[in-house]
Amino acid sequence: MNNGKQMEHEYFQITGGTPLEGSVHAPGAKNAITKLLVASLLSDKKCVFYNVPNIQEVAVTVELCEELGSEIVWDPEERILEIQTKELKTSYIPQRFSGANRIPILMIGALLGRANEAIIVPTAGGCNIGPRPIDYHIESLKTLGASIEYRKMRKEGAYFAEAPHGLKGTLIPLPFPSVGATENTILAATRAKGTTIIKNAAIEPEIIDLILFLQKLGVIIFVDVDRTIRIEGAKEFHEVQHTVITDRAQAASLGMAAIATKGRVLVEGAQHQHMITFLNALRKLGGGFEVSEEGITFFYEGPLKGGLHIETGVHPGFLTDWQQPFVVLMTQADGISILHETIYENRFGYATTLGEMGADIELFTHCLGGKACRFAEKNFTHSCIVKGPTPLIGKEIVVPDLRAGFAYVLAALIAEGESKITGLHYLDRGYENLSGKLASLGANIERVSTAAALV
Ligand code: EPU
Repeated sequence: MNNGKQMEHEYFQITGGTPLEGSVHAPGAKNAITKLLVASLLSDKKCVFYNVPNIQEVAVTVELCEELGSEIVWDPEERILEIQTKELKTSYIPQRFSGANRIPILMIGALLGRANEAIIVPTAGGCNIGPRPIDYHIESLKTLGASIEYRKMRKEGAYFAEAPHGLKGTLIPLPFPSVGATENTILAATRAKGTTIIKNAAIEPEIIDLILFLQKLGVIIFVDVDRTIRIEGAKEFHEVQHTVITDRAQAASLGMAAIATKGRVLVEGAQHQHMITFLNALRKLGGGFEVSEEGITFFYEGPLKGGLHIETGVHPGFLTDWQQPFVVLMTQADGISILHETIYENRFGYATTLGEMGADIELFTHCLGGKACRFAEKNFTHSCIVKGPTPLIGKEIVVPDLRAGFAYVLAALIAEGESKITGLHYLDRGYENLSGKLASLGANIERVSTAAALV
């Protein structure tokens, strides 16, 4: 498995100031394909996926599925991946996968109706109630008939899950439309007896993609307009061929890079219907775009205008994964803009570094600009005011997570002078060949490995 340690001697060397021009492919969605691979474990039939992104998160999920017994043929060049799990070899998720991503916990929902023994999912450092809790997952699966216990092991803990009396469809009202909890519940419901009704479900495009896949697999599954998802348990499955939706976070990121650098880029494969809210915000900010059969062309149309109030939210709201590069765009817009993050309590960690590059961003614990969110009065730094335009200057930066990482790359692309960005393993999780793609658009970016640099 590729991990941070193997990558820590690599960095991006970026000199800002070049407008991006040309066209670039937006790959399949990380947050769709990883779940689709997990969902394929429900069945013993072959599933073929197209438009599979060549990213680390897929590599890790492939390795995990193989560990459990899947036979996989992945052609990254052709973007095709075939998976078939005739039999489960084990339902123990090795410790090395825990903490790698959010996928292991979804194995509970996928395997509960198939495994003959307990599904064991270790958690990194026993941190089961950390900043990204899974209480909604656990409660929903228990309501379906699972018994789930958290047991302390030697160094860390693990969830032990089984359904000794089988799973039984029922009503699951989610306290919040959580993406992961909705997915886990859908997966378990697929092999439950009877009908499961999820109320207040997440309806992100990646979840709809999962639903489309399950319908092809043989599941009767409905989505109502009021966040209700209804699943009738299935026993027989079909072979499936499925094209993964485009990564809307990545498509938007590349589009924002075009506008921030004052360039023009066709993002091939960008899917309009998944980006409506983003495009509205972009247009209000003064960014240009045109939709065509091939994708969306993003272009600079003149100075960006501030004065926006953006609030992240569950779909169809403004995706929290668009927020970080959008704040970089706001630093280049004339006026004061507000961003209120309502999905994660702590997603502005990157603002300090942007401040050191010259941005004027002030953080607040209040819900700025309108509605109070779940984090009101909780003292989380989850709103910011951005004053622009501010020139940025290059800097040495360590990436703390995937989306903040792209915000830094974007800031470096428009900054004066050089930036050196380390911590690339976070970017590799979700962005396909980022330096290669940006370089093909004319960016002055190089992926340097220190071993190479020493030669
Ligand atoms: N939450 C709970 N309890 C739970 C589950 C969630 O309190 O049991 C809270 C979380 O702490 C968070 C909020 O609910 O504050 C939303 O979490 P959600 O479950 O919706 O998100 P997720 O499934 O953990 C997925 C994506 C994220 C994306 C969010 C929102 C994957 C692997 N991750 O996370 O993507 O931001 O949905 O759309 O699908 C990324 O790609 O960089 C990324 C973080």
